[in-house]
Amino acid sequence: AARRGLRFGSAVPWQAGGRNGVPLADPAYARLIAAQCGLIVAENEMKWQHLRPSPTTFAFGHFDAIMAWAEREHLAVRGHNLLWHQPKWLPRWLNDYDFGAQPHAAAETLLTTHIRTVMNRYGRRIASYDVVNEAVRPEDGTLYDTSLSKALGGAEPTLDLAFHTARAAAPDAQLVYNDYMSWEPGNAKHRAGVLRLLEGFRRRNVPVDALGLQSHLVTQGPDGTASAAQLQGEWRRFLDAVTAMGYGLLITELDVRDNHLPAAIAPRDRAVADFTRAYLDVTLAYPKLRDVLCWGLSDAHSWIEGFEPRPDHAKRRPTPYDVALRPKPMRAAI
Ligand code: XIL
Repeated sequence: AARRGLRFGSAVPWQAGGRNGVPLADPAYARLIAAQCGLIVAENEMKWQHLRPSPTTFAFGHFDAIMAWAEREHLAVRGHNLLWHQPKWLPRWLNDYDFGAQPHAAAETLLTTHIRTVMNRYGRRIASYDVVNEAVRPEDGTLYDTSLSKALGGAEPTLDLAFHTARAAAPDAQLVYNDYMSWEPGNAKHRAGVLRLLEGFRRRNVPVDALGLQSHLVTQGPDGTASAAQLQGEWRRFLDAVTAMGYGLLITELDVRDNHLPAAIAPRDRAVADFTRAYLDVTLAYPKLRDVLCWGLSDAHSWIEGFEPRPDHAKRRPTPYDVALRPKPMRAAI
């Protein structure tokens, strides 16, 4: 990656049991990430649910430990995220919050204080942030509402406020809108909704620098779903539309859900690698794309098993390294 002027990275989990200031319970996994990566992102520890136990407090301990470890290992760090715009991913206290007699002012204070506090704390140590995460409903492309957006008069002004606040707090940071609209045919409405949101940002002069392509890929089944060539065509049209508006691109959370594939490991790993390669062939052709991060490097540490186990109970194999930290065909494909 470095030879080609790119950076390769991974999400890093916090685990109870992290010792000696190393955020990972598994020191071999920490060494693998440090050896393979140029940058990292905390898997959960910057999210409101982890950073904000209450309206008046911040809990920076775990994130700070990841940050300190990354700096010792000379890894750059991305910020993920300042506003995950779905009630499901916000703390209960925020969903139930009583914004009082002047809800607009109260919500504005809460959101801007959060963004400024995080960005001021890390300053130039973090050069790229997912300011807003997943604001678009995949089923129809409309925007979610949250307690904050209800108090602020809608989703658009809420997201705009987040980006304007971020730009003022960290003028040199790369500000990213991050989402999981992917190249599968079922994602067409999600992609259209993201394009509409990005057009709106430009029309309203909102400071958004890049689109984060989460890239949680899903292999396509035998039931008439598209060939790699068809997927690539659709995906290129989407990325062309995004870059034509002047946005940069990053791959922020690459992994592969090995759906409809046989349980046998060798053919499954090969199919996952081929799928990854077809995706990266198209996506890495965009010269604006400089960062590729996986959402975990090892099958032992991937969220996919908990999020969507295989119906046949065969363990998921979504990442470039297996549970014993041995490289898989997906690594070679990347
Ligand atoms: C996931 C984490 O991996 C899980 O540990 C957590 O329980 C839920 O969030 N999109 C994102 C990431 O932007 O923050 C999500 O991470 C995965 C999907």
